[in-house]
Amino acid sequence: MNMKPLLITIDGPAGAGKTTVSRMLADRLGFVYVDTGALYRGVAFEAAARGLAPDDEEALGALSAGLDLRFEHTESGVRLFSGERDITGSIRTPEITMLASAISARPVVRQALLDVQKRLGAKKAAVFEGRDMGTVVFPDADVKFFLIADLKARAMRRFLEYRDAGAPRFETVLEDMEKRDANDSSRAVAPLKPAGDAVIIDSTDLSPEAVVEKMVALIRSLPESSR
Ligand code: DC
Repeated sequence: MNMKPLLITIDGPAGAGKTTVSRMLADRLGFVYVDTGALYRGVAFEAAARGLAPDDEEALGALSAGLDLRFEHTESGVRLFSGERDITGSIRTPEITMLASAISARPVVRQALLDVQKRLGAKKAAVFEGRDMGTVVFPDADVKFFLIADLKARAMRRFLEYRDAGAPRFETVLEDMEKRDANDSSRAVAPLKPAGDAVIIDSTDLSPEAVVEKMVALIRSLPESSR
């Protein structure tokens, strides 16, 4: 689709289908896809490697301000680097997932990543996926989506993903997800919530393709001047 460079944000809770849909939408529009959760996971990975406590604001501040987290396009797709090290394969474990949620509540961590994300969005023509893209990082985004789905449906999707990697029980995934929802929504800084001008899409009974169709239809319906 021929589209003026837009900045599109997709926020929502874990398991609502953000990653799949954001990737597909970016492909369809020929835009860059930016997974901002990977940055929080990158900080969590480095904090774990140094044995930092998730509430040690000072140490986390020093760590996140000094990290060099970058996305690089390689033959095997987009990879997350911390300095010279490719950490893509190490940031999706259940432990790093919970730690990322905990450290993402620390204002120092959010502040350090805010600058990284704003720089990445400077050129537009991008789909940014996260929790506070439309509210905090890009309040002036051209199009904002907020993807939701029932807790059980979200936990089942995550369970099926983990199962391939030899994983925990469904009940554990469900509990972790509930905890993470509570963490992400109740934190004082940039809590998970839809921007006032976000379009909310419930993906409980929709395939990723159907969600993307809805998004594309909405983008097409925008006045020419804004797309
Ligand atoms: O999207 P994800 O599951 O990879 O994100 C990991 C954690 O990072 C999640 O618990 C919340 C946090 N996060 C955030 O606070 N803000 C973002 N923009 C993206 C992720």
